[in-house]
Amino acid sequence: MDLGLKGRAALVGGASAGLGRATAERLAAEGCKLALWSRGGDALEQTAEEIRKLYSVVVVTIAGDARDPATASKVAWQAERSLGPIDIAVLNAGGPIAAEATKTNSDEWRTSFQLLAITPIELTTALLPGMRKRGWGRIVSIMSSGIRQPIPELSYSNACRSALAAWLKTIAPEVIADGVTVNGVVPGRLDTARVATLDKAKAERLGKSVAEVRAASERAIPAGRYGTPDELAAYISWLCSDLACYQTGTFVPIDGGMLRFLP
Ligand SMILES: NC(=O)c1ccc[n+]([C@@H]2O[C@H](COP(=O)([O-])OP(=O)(O)OC[C@H]3O[C@@H](n4cnc5c(N)ncnc54)[C@H](OP(=O)(O)O)[C@@H]3O)[C@@H](O)[C@H]2O)c1
Repeated sequence: MDLGLKGRAALVGGASAGLGRATAERLAAEGCKLALWSRGGDALEQTAEEIRKLYSVVVVTIAGDARDPATASKVAWQAERSLGPIDIAVLNAGGPIAAEATKTNSDEWRTSFQLLAITPIELTTALLPGMRKRGWGRIVSIMSSGIRQPIPELSYSNACRSALAAWLKTIAPEVIADGVTVNGVVPGRLDTARVATLDKAKAERLGKSVAEVRAASERAIPAGRYGTPDELAAYISWLCSDLACYQTGTFVPIDGGMLRFLP
């Protein structure tokens, strides 16, 4: 199915690996030109090169740390300077450190809030006026199941992403009449380096093997397995299409049935 995205300019965060990279590949396959950003380095450059070769689209890279307050404006400016007006922004970066809810501290709160809430909010704020003026735009944020059902070891993620979700839900009705949709996707447990790291940390904490921890996680997923990054990316590319122009302010789980709540 042609999603009608050919020639659109997409800015994708956390694009050197995992969910961000899979999303970049899906959008490239649809003919989007791409600005990929992450903290930078070889992995980001290699990803860009591989995508250029595979899909014959323009790909530029931007290095920026989402924990740095100066990053959002820098990334927005550099993306539009290199690619022209940005039509699609996929909000994504690395996850925060794990912390039990009774053992948080103010420095980690500040860093996590910058990473997971302020940077994506500022990035969106910088790109929205152009999208609204042109009458077309897509904001898609990669969230976490912690916004629907708090994850015990991930206090910063649960709280900071919930703040972002509330902000996105607030702006969605303000911009839909200008052709801009704002949605979130809610990964359950998708097979990436981040999830492997979390499983390893849990195994060490519980004195179990990583295989045992993973097997227990998989038993809690009705589909019986972790998802693939592309299973999320495919849905994001749909959200970015014209076919999804009436869908806004939603947060859709891609979780193999893991979350058990009514809408
Ligand atoms: N995978 C899942 O099932 C799952 C579930 C719930 C939530 N999530 C969340 O979804 C996001 C992506 O997860 P993932 O599984 O794809 O993780 P991943 O495989 O570890 O990839 C993370 C990406 O973010 C970049 N990144 C890390 N820290 C950054 C920072 N401070 N500033 C800018 N970029 C940064 C990394 O590249 P560099 O190293 O080059 O910066 C990499 O491209 C994370 O926030 C994660 O917590 C994932």
